[in-house]
Amino acid sequence: MNANATSVTWTAIGPLTDIPRQGARCVKNGAMTIAIFRTSDDRVFALEDKCPHKNGPLSQGIVHDGCVTCPLHNWVISLETGSAQGADEGQTATFPIKLEGGTVFLGL
Ligand code: FES
Repeated sequence: MNANATSVTWTAIGPLTDIPRQGARCVKNGAMTIAIFRTSDDRVFALEDKCPHKNGPLSQGIVHDGCVTCPLHNWVISLETGSAQGADEGQTATFPIKLEGGTVFLGL
């Protein structure tokens, strides 16, 4: 068996064009909301829609430089790692995501 094989199941969540550039779209996974972000250069990232500070909705923040700024108190969260940047400390859960033929797939 391939050592890289994991139990990730890829689910198509729609075309990239459904996500606003430098914005996000939310998908539900049970009780959890996952924000799918699109950067200005069309990269995609999936993070729990919950700021590590006080659970602010990151999906409503502005995407810039591979990060999103939380709309509540302006913490800057890395889209790649989910970590708070600068002097702030905390981490948001990230999920595998890929783009194939213009369709976004989320791995859960
Ligand atoms: S809840 Fe995100 S910065 Fe405070």
